[in-house]
Amino acid sequence: MLKSKIAGIGHYVPEKVVTNNDLTKVMDTSDEWIQERTGIQSRRYGQKHKETTTTMGVEAAKIAIERAGIDKEEVDFIIFATLSPDYYFPGCGVLLQRELGITKTEIGALDIRNQCSGFIYGLSIADQFVKTGMYKNILLVGAEMHSMGLEFSTPGRNVTVIFGDGAGAVVVQPCEGEEEGILTTHLHSDGTFAEKLSFINPGSHGGYHFDKMGQEIDFGFSDAEFGEIFMNEHMIKNAQIYPHMEGQFVFKMAVKKFPEVIMEALAKTGKTKEDIDMLIPHQANLRISQFVQRILKLRDDQVWNNIQKYGNTTAASIPIALCEAVEAGAVKKGDLVCLAAFGSGFTWGSALIRW
Ligand code: ACO
Repeated sequence: MLKSKIAGIGHYVPEKVVTNNDLTKVMDTSDEWIQERTGIQSRRYGQKHKETTTTMGVEAAKIAIERAGIDKEEVDFIIFATLSPDYYFPGCGVLLQRELGITKTEIGALDIRNQCSGFIYGLSIADQFVKTGMYKNILLVGAEMHSMGLEFSTPGRNVTVIFGDGAGAVVVQPCEGEEEGILTTHLHSDGTFAEKLSFINPGSHGGYHFDKMGQEIDFGFSDAEFGEIFMNEHMIKNAQIYPHMEGQFVFKMAVKKFPEVIMEALAKTGKTKEDIDMLIPHQANLRISQFVQRILKLRDDQVWNNIQKYGNTTAASIPIALCEAVEAGAVKKGDLVCLAAFGSGFTWGSALIRW
């Protein structure tokens, strides 16, 4: 049966390094607090007006395409995962297609919004399309420009210090070997706690979900017959246009779901924790990765972490980390690689790959 593999991988992070001490200039925080709670020492921020989620994705994509040994015109489908798109619509997929200069082929471009699990959801979609023989060179990109939408003041410190910018990309191609390429993928979600990690305005919700949960929040909706729902001045003045996270709640869910979904992938393929050569967890928080490592009793050399220098880059974190691990020689041909993610939604997932 036809299978799929990652034939090329690339990543890009912007040049500008922002340290924890840099953030203390705009909010009440400290290097000590951030490192102790998250493991993060610095993150990268894209260049205002010159870089976007799309342009960073393009840089990563160029490397992935070259390493896959194909011409950009041979890409036959694009999947773009992000929660910080250039535009509300259209999505980054078509913008990337234009920036890469491959509009003549009129290939499809799919945008997916699965936040921290976006790359794994995208990989699973690519895997299915390749397995059915529909596409042969799928370009999958995960990219985020968080720095443009964070709250740079003390009320936003619990979220802002965690996130950074960057992009990763892979080209997914067919392969035939029994023990080669993507062995399995697993996707899950539970919308019960959707608002615990969310970015709700601008949006069309009109307060509906909060009313239903019995939470009275003044979003400044007026009695106007039309408009003023999606975005209004009240939201801007009252800082209701930033990400919201209930950190401890997210932490507890993450350390439960990461091991579950990793074990699910192992069970499906008849493998054990000991068989994992490298676990690449979504870089949510170093403490979450360490917790998962402890639960699964994995050695240090079986887990790749780079959140220390990039922060949490959401949909980009897995392809950036995987790319770095490959470039460092820590992931070699024939290795069993496990990817796992958990994030907003909540959504979570895993993939097992024979590299
Ligand atoms: N600097 C200094 N103080 C801070 C900061 C900060 N950046 N952020 C919050 N605080 C303060 C709070 O205001 C609070 O002060 P108070 O006690 O006077 O009210 C105190 O620190 C403790 O706040 P908590 O939110 O309870 O802090 P906690 O110990 O839970 O740590 C953290 C917060 C790091 C977010 C933690 O909950 C966590 O790791 N959660 C997991 C969520 C996560 O990692 N998300 C990543 C993105 S989601 C994903 O990718 C899955």
